Amino acid sequence: MMPALASLSFATEASNDSEYDESAYGTVDADGGTPPGQRAFRDALGQFATGVTVVTAGGVEGKPVGVTISSLASVSLAPPLMVWSLARTSASLPSFCAAPCHAINVLASTQEAVCRRFATGGIDRFAGTECRAGPCGTTLIAGALAYFICRHRSVRVVGDHVLFIAEVVYYRSSAGVPLVFHGGGFR
Ligand SMILES: Cc1cc2nc3c(=O)[nH]c(=O)nc-3n(C[C@H](O)[C@H](O)[C@H](O)COP(=O)(O)O)c2cc1C
Repeated sequence: MMPALASLSFATEASNDSEYDESAYGTVDADGGTPPGQRAFRDALGQFATGVTVVTAGGVEGKPVGVTISSLASVSLAPPLMVWSLARTSASLPSFCAAPCHAINVLASTQEAVCRRFATGGIDRFAGTECRAGPCGTTLIAGALAYFICRHRSVRVVGDHVLFIAEVVYYRSSAGVPLVFHGGGFR
């Protein structure tokens, strides 16, 4: 069920962020590219290799939440800002919106099972995952290569996702080999 977005205090997308309109970009011919249809568009996006994170927060009624996220990108060094996006259909969305902050755990190459666990519905994702309590209700995952404790700078609905612009207030990192997601598989 779609979370009740209307009750959450963040801005919705501007009216000019409208659906793809081919007339605005010119005609697409056989050599010029393909308009973004769902499956093929996802496959094309999959050619962009990313790291993998688990983002955690203290949930509503004190039940922590954690979700596998690969949409992370850096935005600004000063102030230190990052962005990630969560599907509007996410069951964890109300908790992330209500929490004052969240932790972004960057997974190591040995943590594919953790990645899969935090992308699976209907289970206690934290059970069997070595982790500890972090600041501000967050959860830190043991073995992560880096973590960033963030507070919301901006939360905004864009298309079928919600963008979290996150201001980093504390971080820690260590050397190691990251888990890489590419073409629907792990490297
Ligand atoms: C490698 C990988 C990356 C993912 N990245 C994202 C992402 O950036 N945003 C998103 O909304 N879901 C992403 N997902 C899917 C969510 O982890 C998955 O839908 C999860 O079950 C959502 O949990 P929730 O409904 O409890 O919030 C990713 C899944 C995997 C395996």
